[in-house]
Amino acid sequence: MSQPEEQPSEEVVFHRVARAGQVPEGYIRRFYVGDLECAVARLRGQVFATSNYCTHLDCLLSSGKIIDDGIRCSCHGSVFDLETGDPIYPPATEPIAVYPVREEDGEVYVGVSEADVVSGGPRRRRLRRD
Ligand code: FES
Repeated sequence: MSQPEEQPSEEVVFHRVARAGQVPEGYIRRFYVGDLECAVARLRGQVFATSNYCTHLDCLLSSGKIIDDGIRCSCHGSVFDLETGDPIYPPATEPIAVYPVREEDGEVYVGVSEADVVSGGPRRRRLRRD
């Protein structure tokens, strides 16, 4: 009889990802929180963190641009709201994951859970073979 699989924790833990100066106004940068790949951007002084994968065809959002209130994917032009992750311009129809951010003492921290890491993106997801 097989054991039920343990569910990943939903507890959010904040991880330092960058110095504040590494995320200048209007730019998007890629950072990793363990195995999770994030796009981290600053808009009007506030820092936002999202999944780095567009929900249309998985292009990297850190290669995109900040426009209005969103992050625009460089591949086919989808735009996602930085605060909610909702698609605000097609072709993407599914939201991207967003993560809480704290900026303290000149450092940027992103909050993620084990569940976020497990569901964080196909390019970094590892298949367990044990
Ligand atoms: S992969 Fe992002 S819009 Fe197509």
